[in-house]
Amino acid sequence: MNKFSVFAEYESNVRSYCRSFPKVFDRAVGSVVYDVEGSEYIDFFAGAGAVNYGHNNGHVVDSIMRYMRGDGIMHSLDFHTRAKQEFIQKFVDVILKPRHLRHKMQFTGPTGTNAVEAALKLARKVTGRTQVVAFTNAFHGVSLGALAATANKSKRKAGYVPLHYITRMPYDGFLGDGINTAEIVEGMYRTAGAGLEVPAAFILETVQGEGGLNVASSGWLSRIGKLANDLGALLIVDEVQTGCGRTGKFFGFEEMGIEPDIICLSKSLGGIGLPIAVNLIKEGLDQWQPGEHNGTFRGNNLAFVAGSAALDYWDSASPFPEELSLKEEWITEELKATAALFSENAVEVRGKGMLQGLAFKSPQLASDVSRLGFDEGVIAETCGPDNEVLKIMPALTIDQATLQEGFRRLRKGIMRASAHLHAENWAKIA
Ligand SMILES: Cc1ncc(COP(=O)(O)O)c(C=O)c1O
Repeated sequence: MNKFSVFAEYESNVRSYCRSFPKVFDRAVGSVVYDVEGSEYIDFFAGAGAVNYGHNNGHVVDSIMRYMRGDGIMHSLDFHTRAKQEFIQKFVDVILKPRHLRHKMQFTGPTGTNAVEAALKLARKVTGRTQVVAFTNAFHGVSLGALAATANKSKRKAGYVPLHYITRMPYDGFLGDGINTAEIVEGMYRTAGAGLEVPAAFILETVQGEGGLNVASSGWLSRIGKLANDLGALLIVDEVQTGCGRTGKFFGFEEMGIEPDIICLSKSLGGIGLPIAVNLIKEGLDQWQPGEHNGTFRGNNLAFVAGSAALDYWDSASPFPEELSLKEEWITEELKATAALFSENAVEVRGKGMLQGLAFKSPQLASDVSRLGFDEGVIAETCGPDNEVLKIMPALTIDQATLQEGFRRLRKGIMRASAHLHAENWAKIA
């Protein structure tokens, strides 16, 4: 029996990340993860954005330990609890009010995809329309309603039913430089004879995290936002991956010239990766009947407590939000130095904030680099329609020395490979 046999024998074949990073992990602190043999890995994946404040963040852990030791209630459906009361009040005071957002909070089932399901339902209910506009390379989750809005081919195929009620439109940059896709989308909705139904909503990400680190410009976003408004359609901004500081501000849409009607948030809202999801619903649009969208695990009290502690990072007295732009620069510089190891045009630096990466011409090269980096002790996943983009999304709390060491390991792996491995491929492409 080897250390993987229990997984191979008893866990479903659907498991995937563990195939790219085949170790048995045990402990994690900040930006470092340890396997059962004691080897350490610098984490440039951060739970796909669920551990923005670092693994086992001490401030967050202290608060949940105190809560548990005091017999704080764990499970409560949507009962009122002190933990929820404190979380809502803090979120309003620290996040919503300073941004002049007057949104209500709907706690959905604790996954991003369930928040998206609820947002789609509510937009259809409020407008009485069925179609929702979603964009090329979008990722909104894998339950059937959200999956219809997701663009990824293999994920869609795995639905095994027709995926309906979505109109697909080109995201910013999808048709190449010099083609303004917002103008095309607008043309389709403002021209008689286009044959489109007026949509209930437009759903979009401000940076497409799974779809290849595509960044929408503020000009593009504001044009789509205005179009939605003119059509009486809701603007749903899916901040499941971009939220909680990932692109440099608490929300990815900040300073981008749009006013979302519904904001979907999850991942790092639970402080240290505890499951929770919320929709922020603009005043007047909260037209739910009690229980119309429900679920056993809406609002996990431990996640509320952890989330409240994590919100201290966003307090007006905290230096943390300001530091993010400096960290963005560190990552861009390191990525440029890494891209320079390859021949011109083989790779491009892409993304924004702490959600950046290297877009390779060759998908094989992206997965090679991910694997080689892992061999040297760094965890970095791929994304994009063909997994052609190496994604660098460390914890937002990472220090410069750890970040540099992670990139040093990545480059060491690349250098080693260019010297010894895949000599044919690398000579051609790299
Ligand atoms: C933008 C976006 N929306 C929705 C989801 C789905 O979230 P979950 O995996 O928690 O269902 C993800 C997951 O990565 C995401 O990135």
